[in-house]
Amino acid sequence: MKKIIWILSFSASLLALPFAAQAAGGPGIELEPAHNNLRHADSLQRGAVLFSNYCMACHSAKYMRYNRIAKDIGWSDEQVVSQMAHGLNKVVDEVQTRMLPGVAMDVLGTEPPDLSLMARLKGTDYIYTFLRAYHQDENGNWDNTVLKGTSMPNVLEGIQRHASSEDYAQAARDIANFLEYVGEPAKMDRMDLGWKVIAFLLVLLLLTYVLKKEYWRDIKH
Ligand code: HEC
Repeated sequence: MKKIIWILSFSASLLALPFAAQAAGGPGIELEPAHNNLRHADSLQRGAVLFSNYCMACHSAKYMRYNRIAKDIGWSDEQVVSQMAHGLNKVVDEVQTRMLPGVAMDVLGTEPPDLSLMARLKGTDYIYTFLRAYHQDENGNWDNTVLKGTSMPNVLEGIQRHASSEDYAQAARDIANFLEYVGEPAKMDRMDLGWKVIAFLLVLLLLTYVLKKEYWRDIKH
């Protein structure tokens, strides 16, 4: 009996694991839903440009290559090189940071993490909330409510100051959307495949039913 209870509670805690990971923002931090959409190619394209302009000075997304991004978000090879790599990289290159080695430690006191898997690690909503969680105290010092005392500056400050609050939110949403895509480039294919499998199973069900009818037609029952 004890064993059964133990197994049950163990499986229940396993089931709860993904939720625990989602709550990685720490206690008391409400994450805002990003309401992003991986099927919006224009959002992914804007996110890619913003990522290049505002994040790659410090961060890499080194598990991605430019040509894969181009193919997935609807750009030609030439477009990805001009829009994201600013002509500095080749399409076959990995998305590396523009920060020179060793500089981050001197300037920021830490290494900015690679962002390839950040959306999988912390969640898309986390990135969306984190980017918008910067605030200034009365002495003009910036801090972030999600990651207190972070050494990452408020990189979207320009957009925050000069764009409307909708455009500012949209910029963070586009970046979060792009990073969700980067975290799992095959996700859209996987979602499409899911529907195909279900459609296939429905057709199969129908055929099986028709076949059953056919088999039993002449049998009295
Ligand atoms: C000036 C350099 C710099 C730029 C530009 C920059 N970051 Fe960062 N970022 C950092 C550093 C440093 C850290 C590590 C922060 C820490 O541990 O306090 C970090 C950490 C992060 C994290 C992880 C936060 C966590 O909870 O651990 C995310 C997500 C992130 N950055 C996203 C971005 C995005 C998206 C952009 C572009 C919009 C960006 N960063 C631009 C320096 C930068």
